[in-house]
Amino acid sequence: MKEYQEIIDRAFIASENAYVPYSNYQVGACVVTKDNKYFIGANVENASYGLTNCAERNAIFQAYSNGYRQDDIEAIAIVSKGKTLATPCGACRQVLVELLNQHTPIVLSNKAIEKVTNIEELLPMSFTKEDLE
Ligand code: THU
Repeated sequence: MKEYQEIIDRAFIASENAYVPYSNYQVGACVVTKDNKYFIGANVENASYGLTNCAERNAIFQAYSNGYRQDDIEAIAIVSKGKTLATPCGACRQVLVELLNQHTPIVLSNKAIEKVTNIEELLPMSFTKEDLE
């Protein structure tokens, strides 16, 4: 997927920094903004397992922490070396539905398989801030 090769490559590099003493499953992510800035993330686990932060949440929080918002984000890649694609967990889908636009490309890769999806496809009928109005 030539169009997304740069963020896929950067996400794989980020995955090398994953802190995964419990699962030994490295995940990397990379957000690219419309003004061509890159923000990476890797999964960081904890002995209290539920406190683990996933790679994609770390990457998108980095982008937001640097002042970028959903309309500024071009795409996000999420990568792993498993047999199957690492698709975002339920918690990450809820975070992504608020912090990405519905059709922002979410690029998944494990080198063997590559797929482009979006949060509307991953989390239909979601609960969002509009529901609180
Ligand atoms: N994980 C991610 O970082 N992103 C995903 O999309 C799937 C799961 C992490 C969480 C945990 O550190 C490890 O993968 C195994 O669940």
